[in-house]
Amino acid sequence: MKEIKNALVVDNKLISPNIYSMTLDIKDIAQKAKAGQFVNLYCKAESRLLPRPISICEIDKEKGRIVLVYGVVGKGTEEFGNIKRGESIEVLGPLGNGFMIDETKRKNIIVGGGLGTPPLVELVKHLKGEVDVYLGFRSQAMLIEEFEKIGARVHIATDDGLEGFKGNVLELLKNNNAVGDIIYSCGPKPMLKAVAGWAKNNNIPMQVSLEERMACGIGACVGCVCKVKEKDEQDWQHKKVCKDGPVFWSDEVVWDE
Ligand SMILES: Cc1cc2nc3c(=O)[nH]c(=O)nc-3n(C[C@H](O)[C@H](O)[C@H](O)COP(=O)(O)OP(=O)(O)OC[C@H]3O[C@@H](n4cnc5c(N)ncnc54)[C@H](O)[C@@H]3O)c2cc1C
Ligand code: FES
Repeated sequence: MKEIKNALVVDNKLISPNIYSMTLDIKDIAQKAKAGQFVNLYCKAESRLLPRPISICEIDKEKGRIVLVYGVVGKGTEEFGNIKRGESIEVLGPLGNGFMIDETKRKNIIVGGGLGTPPLVELVKHLKGEVDVYLGFRSQAMLIEEFEKIGARVHIATDDGLEGFKGNVLELLKNNNAVGDIIYSCGPKPMLKAVAGWAKNNNIPMQVSLEERMACGIGACVGCVCKVKEKDEQDWQHKKVCKDGPVFWSDEVVWDE
């Protein structure tokens, strides 16, 4: 049974407009965590009881630390942005299943969109073979250095063309004639759905990390279900994104709803 723990905030810095990188000293979670899992962060304000799910961006098992990269979008994340180094925050995790890493694949394609990019950094550290990272943003890219430091080739698309290719990440994949043995992806659902269609046409297996609104984050409230089917089957069932996911094979997800 997981317990809510108090983590020391080692750092909490603005890395891009409205985007923060928070480093937490929390040995227990760092030791167990794997790429693609998330934590629940708790607000101090009593009016905000529900935890906020945030993916683990990087894990340092030696130092017992994790890094979270989050955007300020509402009251909860605004509160997190005001936390100072040296303060503490309540956190529960690691939660969810994480990516199913296949070390036999020689050509890995990573596809990230906006605030879905952070969990892909830790993932790339564990891949063998070549890694091409395709990232799509509205206007401003982030985390490029983090990927390049690990030896990945990074390709950027922005909607307004301010950085990299002008267009979306699917157009960028097509424009670059991307080829790979597997795709790992995280981002907004319409992006995941579009890339999943391209992956299917190109016979490339793909894992997607889904994001649903969550309440408990631990499988107790059924607030985060998605429709999932067995490969090549028609019948679907509800699965909990927080507990059975957030990572699924793209051909198991029922996209049309
Ligand atoms: C598995 C998972 C991983 C995530 N990882 C990241 C990450 O690494 N970086 C990042 O910036 N964001 C991430 N998100 C989104 C993040 O959880 C929301 O942006 C955040 O909860 C918004 O809280 P808020 O109080 O600022 O916004 P509000 O809109 O005020 O939130 C109101 C309520 O809705 C819930 N909520 C709002 N948006 C979301 C959302 N997209 N997903 C789930 N619950 C939501 C909140 O938890 C809260 O209970 C992730 C979401 C999920 C499900
Ligand atoms: S958020 Fe409660 S079951 Fe997933």
